[in-house]
Amino acid sequence: MSIRPHVADQSLVMRTGAWPDYALIDSGDGRKLERYGRFSVVRPEPQCLWRPRLGPEAWDKADAVFDPSDEDEAGNWRFAKGPIPPFPLSWDGVRFQGQFTNFRHLAFFPEQAANWAWLKDRVTAAGPGAKVLNLFGYTGVASLVCAAAGAAVTHVDASKRAIGWARDNAAMAGLQDRPIRWICEDARRYVQREARRGARYDGVILDPPKYGRGPNNEVWRLFEDLPELAKLCVELLSENASFILLNAYAARISGVALAHLLAQELEGRAGRIDWGELALKEETTDRQIGLSFFARWTPDLAPPDLGR
Ligand SMILES: C[S@@+](CC[C@H](N)C(=O)[O-])C[C@H]1O[C@@H](n2cnc3c(N)ncnc32)[C@H](O)[C@@H]1O
Repeated sequence: MSIRPHVADQSLVMRTGAWPDYALIDSGDGRKLERYGRFSVVRPEPQCLWRPRLGPEAWDKADAVFDPSDEDEAGNWRFAKGPIPPFPLSWDGVRFQGQFTNFRHLAFFPEQAANWAWLKDRVTAAGPGAKVLNLFGYTGVASLVCAAAGAAVTHVDASKRAIGWARDNAAMAGLQDRPIRWICEDARRYVQREARRGARYDGVILDPPKYGRGPNNEVWRLFEDLPELAKLCVELLSENASFILLNAYAARISGVALAHLLAQELEGRAGRIDWGELALKEETTDRQIGLSFFARWTPDLAPPDLGR
């Protein structure tokens, strides 16, 4: 009988609750009220179909509100006391910058904290010097979490600007001397080249957008291009690899679909694939907002410990 990983029967919801520099304070009426460091922020969130728990006195005093009214996609931030420059944040001892972008977010995604915690465990389990590849790495918090846990990281992103922010974050985190390679390249091209060279990694992270472009205008389309990329990423796994983590925000994807793509490509390896969604949980209630889908493989057969 051929060996293949076990795909978990049930979906997991990986919840991110409040951490010292982040909280989902309240949500409702198509918006969320969050705290980033010392700033409170209101952002649109059409999924919040319910009523907010707190009254206007809490929402109206926000330091920054993203107003989608006069935008197509870009939109505007309205600041209560003037623009807020980049400001320091940290997660589990890893420092990085929050900054208000035109894309409704603050240059990182707080719900990814659930993935960061898992990555930290996997890198620690793999042992010092584990080689990690982070594709579509953006501002690099996942890369920094892995580097802080002892990994040698290759961080790939198509945007020079994002790589610049990620390097600034590494300096802020005091990790500038760790073995992190910053590569500005099309993710697919890079992986094709690594596969040809016979490179191997102990862990691979990929969080592709629905649509993107490489530095030489190479087009990335999730639904067309993910199967080949997933196949190549599996090829890059070392014999004793510790993990592969696939994340996606695209609306028409699901965790279980990502899991079965990985299962197909991981034929010949044992282990298990867990899948599901990442959600932000309100600080003082159990109300949650599901935000992205994930599937992740480990060579372990034991179900994940959800005790945290
Ligand atoms: C949604 S962000 C990824 C989020 C990131 N993993 C995180 O948790 O912070 C998408 C990133 O993919 C990059 N990107 C888009 N198309 C790309 C391509 N063809 N090759 C490499 N990176 C690409 C963008 O520059 C952007 O930084």
